[in-house]
Amino acid sequence: MSLRINNLLNMDPGDSDKLLHVEGWVRTKRDSKNFCFFEINDGSSLKNLQVILDKTNEEIIVIIDKISTGASVEFIGELVESPGKNQKVELKAENVILWGESPAESYPLQKKRHSFEFLREIAHLRPRTNTIGAVTRVRSALSFAIHSFFQSNDFLYIHTPIISASDCEGAGEMFQVTTLPLDKVPKGKDGLIDYNQDFFGKQANLTVSGQLEAEIYAMAMKNVYTFGPTFRAENSNTSRHLAEFWMIEPEMAFCTLDGDMAVAEDFLKYIFSYVMEHCQEDMEFFNKWIEKGLTDSLRSIIDSPFSHMTYTEAVKELQKDSSQFEFPVTWGADLQSEHEKFLTEKVFNGPVIVTDYPKEIKAFYMKMNDDGKTVRAMDVLVPRLGEIIGGSERENRHDVLLNRIKEWGLNKEDYWWYLDLRKYGSVPHAGFGLGFERVIQYVTGMQNIRDVIPFPRTVKNAEF
Ligand code: 4AD
Ligand code: MG
Repeated sequence: MSLRINNLLNMDPGDSDKLLHVEGWVRTKRDSKNFCFFEINDGSSLKNLQVILDKTNEEIIVIIDKISTGASVEFIGELVESPGKNQKVELKAENVILWGESPAESYPLQKKRHSFEFLREIAHLRPRTNTIGAVTRVRSALSFAIHSFFQSNDFLYIHTPIISASDCEGAGEMFQVTTLPLDKVPKGKDGLIDYNQDFFGKQANLTVSGQLEAEIYAMAMKNVYTFGPTFRAENSNTSRHLAEFWMIEPEMAFCTLDGDMAVAEDFLKYIFSYVMEHCQEDMEFFNKWIEKGLTDSLRSIIDSPFSHMTYTEAVKELQKDSSQFEFPVTWGADLQSEHEKFLTEKVFNGPVIVTDYPKEIKAFYMKMNDDGKTVRAMDVLVPRLGEIIGGSERENRHDVLLNRIKEWGLNKEDYWWYLDLRKYGSVPHAGFGLGFERVIQYVTGMQNIRDVIPFPRTVKNAEF
């Protein structure tokens, strides 16, 4: 493997006596009479490598003329001490290979700052910008940290299916998967679509959550997690909703809501600490250019315990001055984003875990409380964003679960295996789902969820 720029920048001039080959894309070029300066980047760090190439012969001059921003190049030279104050070393090149030109008149990335809206239109080139490059590195580091947290705590990684015949959240917001011809869908005598003729012999969808299948494995392996793409056909055009997003879902047997909340808190603190330690340069960049105070607020979250309150207490708190909200605050209604922001930013100034929501606004699988009105749900809310985690203790009593399935108008035959788990060796168990893009937004301060996933899928948009 060839040397990456992040490694080179940390080397000392004498570290290598061989000629180095450095590959990357040109960010800037400054030409003068006897030599040419370049800044090149290969995605390994925010910082570019400065390269000085002497115009020693006609051949090099011809190549230099053809190099402009965006071109892919390979420089061959030695690492020397840099006279500049921004970097310790630079490359004194004696030769260059121009792999791919990048015509200046049409290359869309100029040296100026582009809007994120514009960059979304050129998602094939936007990873070459400082911000999207930094997001990409943080996203990768966070993925690693997530696996590392669970693996080091003896959770098994389970691959739950992407195509599913059940609706985990029971919200009906699913993308259907079918091979039936859309122009002449086969119908039965009753006039309904004949799914016997469909690929799976029944109606199937892209999964909205891997939870139900994770529960199956938790009932044998005790502690498991799934981390994969999930899909929601909800018509929400907001800065925090995607139609395709990644979710981390741990599921733990012999565990109640208290254990669930403790894991969620430890987990978030672990991954926040991990990026603070391993992505320092990128985090400083976000702190400076994207969200002032970001790193301080993450540090304070790592150092202090999360706050807790019940939904009922939250409603009371919000009702103290409900005139400031657009949406009314009544017991039984779901908390809106403005309410979540108020609680985290004004009341607690930090994350808060809200528990025991009314059963009507939460999924069918959540454990019923003795009051018959609320369920053992928990949402982790954070400043700026609102909900990043949704979880619960699961209903592990067969009869109660069956009633809930009926109440929801779900087909009990579709959930036979889920009910079976409550017949054979049922045990209190709990889990949660962390929206991966939401947590990246939170950690980087990026305002729009479309800018923390490489290729966002949203209403009316599946380009690239
Ligand atoms: O609260 P949700 O819907 O919970 C579940 O799906 C459970 N089955 C999880 C579990 O208990 N295993 O979604 C969990 C999280 C939310 O808190 C949010 O962070 C994220 O997933 N999320 C979305 N992120 C981006 N775009 C969307 N449309 C999202 N919907 C949910
Ligand atoms: Mg939720």
